[in-house]
This record gives sequence, C-alpha cells and structure tokens, in this order.
Amino acid sequence: MTTTAASSDVATGRTLIIGSTGFIGRFVAEASLASGRLTYLLVRPDPPTPPKAKTIRTLQDKGAIIIPGMIKEQDFMENVLKEHKIDVVISAIGGESILDQLFLVAAIKAVGTVKRFLPSEFGHDIDRADPVEPALSMYNKKRKIRRSIEEAGIPYTYICCNSIAAWPYHDNTHPADVLPPLDRFHIYGDGNVKAYFVAGTDIGKFTIRSVEDDRTLNKSVHFKPAANLFNMNELASVWEKKIGRTLPRITITEDDLLAAAKEMPFPQSAVAAITHDIFIKGCQINFSLDKPSDVDVSSLYPDTPFRSIDECFNDFSCSDS
Ligand SMILES: NC(=O)c1ccc[n+]([C@@H]2O[C@H](COP(=O)([O-])OP(=O)(O)OC[C@H]3O[C@@H](n4cnc5c(N)ncnc54)[C@H](OP(=O)(O)O)[C@@H]3O)[C@@H](O)[C@H]2O)c1
Repeated sequence: MTTTAASSDVATGRTLIIGSTGFIGRFVAEASLASGRLTYLLVRPDPPTPPKAKTIRTLQDKGAIIIPGMIKEQDFMENVLKEHKIDVVISAIGGESILDQLFLVAAIKAVGTVKRFLPSEFGHDIDRADPVEPALSMYNKKRKIRRSIEEAGIPYTYICCNSIAAWPYHDNTHPADVLPPLDRFHIYGDGNVKAYFVAGTDIGKFTIRSVEDDRTLNKSVHFKPAANLFNMNELASVWEKKIGRTLPRITITEDDLLAAAKEMPFPQSAVAAITHDIFIKGCQINFSLDKPSDVDVSSLYPDTPFRSIDECFNDFSCSDS
C-alpha cells in the first residue's frame, strides 16, 4: 500500500451512498457527483415527502442513479453490491437507525468486493468522546458498528468532522438549516470552550477525497482546520458583525444542558448531551491525534482550504441585516 498517492482503482470506483436525502448525506452525495464518480443512491421505497422528492430529483439531474431499497434487507443489498460492482459504500443514515448498518456490514462482508466502507459517523471520535445519555447510547451503537466492521475485515474510513458550521443550537439536529439568532444568543457555560466548525460542503468534499486516498485506509480522519476553531463568544461576534448589531448573551449553564439532555425528547436530548460534551467538556479539543489510526485532513490536503466561518455565515440570508 502506498502512503501518499490516491488509489486509482478506488478513485474511479462506483460509489453507493445511503442516506443521501438526509442532512449530512446530501452534502456527501453532491460532492460525489461533483467529483465525477459514478454515484448510486439507495433511497427507501416509501413515497417521498415533497422536499425529499425534490432532493432526489436534483441529485438525479446531476447524474445520480437511484436504487429503491432498504439496508435491512441483506440479500437485496448483496445483489445491489454485486450487480452494480460497488467499490465504495458511504452510509449517512440518521442517529435513530445506526444499528440497521449491521445488515449492511453483513452484506459487505458476504460480497467481499467493497474496497472502502464509511459508516455513518460524521461527528466526534466516538471511541474517545464520552457524552452523557442519551448521546452515550447512540455512541455505543456507533462503536458497535465500528467493531463489527473491524472484525469482518472490511476496509474502512471513519469521518470525524466535528461540528457543522452554523449556530450550535442545543435542541436542533440540523443547525445549518436554521438562521443564527436575531434576538439573543444562548451561550453555553462561559462561552470560551472552542470547537471546530466545518461547512457542510467541506464535509462532503473531504469525505469524498478521503475515500480515494490510500492514506485514509483503516483510519479515523479528523477535521480540525485551525482557522475554523472558534468558541461561542467569538462565533457570536462574527454573526454580530454580519448583522451589524449586538445581541444580548444569555448563559445556559452546564446544569441547564444536563437537564435538557434528560428531559427533552429524542433526538433533541442527544443534541443537548453532545452540546454539553463540546462546549462544557471540550471533547473536540481535549485530545491529541496520537494514535496510529489518526489522520488529520488538513495534513493530507494542505493546499485545499476550508470555507471560513465568515463565508458560511454569509450563506444565511438575514432579513433585518
Ligand atoms: N457533525 C454534525 O454537526 C452532525 C449533524 C447532524 C448529524 N450528524 C451525523 O451524521 C449522520 C447522519 O445524520 P443526519 O442528521 O444527516 O440524518 P438524517 O437527516 O436523519 O437523514 C438520514 C438519512 O438516512 C436515511 N435512512 C435512515 N434509515 C435508513 C435505512 N434503514 N435504510 C436506508 N436509508 C435510511 C433517511 O432516509 P429517509 O429520508 O427515507 O428517512 C435519510 O436519507 C449521523 O451519524 C449523525 O450522527 C452530524
């Protein structure tokens, strides 16, 4: 295995993406299509909601090939992998369906021809982070998927992309779909704990580059762009400059976040627990990349910049700015 060059067979490989109608999966599907890869999308056969139908149409217009189906049907998945000669499988299924990937792992193992599998991760290094419940149970499920992949000897890459570049609402699973605050900021703790904020398009772009790269084989790929490391007070200031006024800052204490993690319905409760882990415990910054399985995406692609927070905040239209 070379250590520097991209692997040409994987680079031209046929890629199957599961969860492309979702928040993270759409960025990955867009990036796969933009890279010119032959991109298959597994889409659940239920009649789609109008927004989901629109997403599917848009991706089809860009060249995606739609395969209706469910990952829980192992025989069907084995046929899909064989019939379409799939080399790369990327799963971006949502937090509530993580264990469904056990069937996918079994299908990939049985077929034996997939050169790279990326399970649904797209957050923290779940073997290091230790959030409170209910996020811990979700991480335990993701850990179970990691162990099943490793035991099956499936070539893998784990994407640890940290936070999406948006205002980190502690009760919203898809913060990049929501405008940052216009009335007041909720600041977690003292607002001085830093986190990495990565544009959704960069999550997609660097995920696709990773699958083409021998250096990411059987590794955790960490997204830690130095220029995108901000604490909440700094993030608030960036947004205040954008809207041309200052907003009150209200403290949400550690106890408030722990209560939200206990009392809110799932998945908001899991978001509150992860928010606590990020902005109180510092789970994105309290470790170094010192395992042989760690790679830093900025070291892999030093010449490819990440979008800045400033640019990302420009994307939010602001009616009263
Ligand atoms: N870093 C971050 O800031 C961040 C933020 C959010 C999520 N995440 C992580 O990203 C991953 C994806 O989460 P998300 O919020 O993007 O998910 P999401 O928006 O809920 O979308 C999930 C997608 O998976 C599909 N799906 C779910 N179960 C399936 C199954 N059994 N078979 C086939 N397709 C299935 C859904 O299809 P339907 O449309 O048919 O339901 C949908 O397309 C998760 O691991 C999550 O923890 C990270």
